[in-house]
Amino acid sequence: MHSRGQEHLKVLLRSSVVQKRVREMGQQISKDFKGQRVHLIGVLKGAAIFLSDLIRQIRVEVSLDFMAVSSYGDGSQTSGQVRLVKDLDTSIEGLNVIVVEDILDTGLTLGYLLRVLQQRKPKSLRIAALLDKPERRIKDVKADYVGFQIPNEFVVGYGLDYAERYRNLKDVCVLSLPPS
Ligand code: IMP
Ligand code: MG
Repeated sequence: MHSRGQEHLKVLLRSSVVQKRVREMGQQISKDFKGQRVHLIGVLKGAAIFLSDLIRQIRVEVSLDFMAVSSYGDGSQTSGQVRLVKDLDTSIEGLNVIVVEDILDTGLTLGYLLRVLQQRKPKSLRIAALLDKPERRIKDVKADYVGFQIPNEFVVGYGLDYAERYRNLKDVCVLSLPPS
């Protein structure tokens, strides 16, 4: 248990456990798309760390693009609104697209992104999410590749932030905030 001010961090998923699972996810994707090419779309910024590990575990031809959306404010409460902040650089028409996201929570972000991307006629469209909090789902979205299902707690580390902090932690940790 570390702490910063009144915030407490408790390790939920050790770095070694995360690395092993990411390797398996990469192997699964490589198997599913054997002989084909995949186009990864990283959802900034949270997925950046996961994506950088995942892409190196993929053994088929792969290309990369990024999107950014804003759904949360600076804190840990969802606003329920999703806005496209950065669009793709290139067309995805005819490509095997895998959207790479840090966490599937309410499903509002990915629900929105899938709708936008589907209109652009990819050959296939899948989701890879490192974490999944099924208890929190509002919109019915399912990821094709899930690293870990986790309980309904706020987590940080391995790319995930709280007000832009903690993305650099190697482990995924539960963050407890002081009562406000
Ligand atoms: P959704 O739209 O509710 O599914 O939320 C997805 C986005 O909310 C993720 O990409 C994260 O940026 C953020 N988010 C949801 N849960 C957490 C969490 O436990 N820690 C950090 N960010 C989270
Ligand atoms: Mg995010």
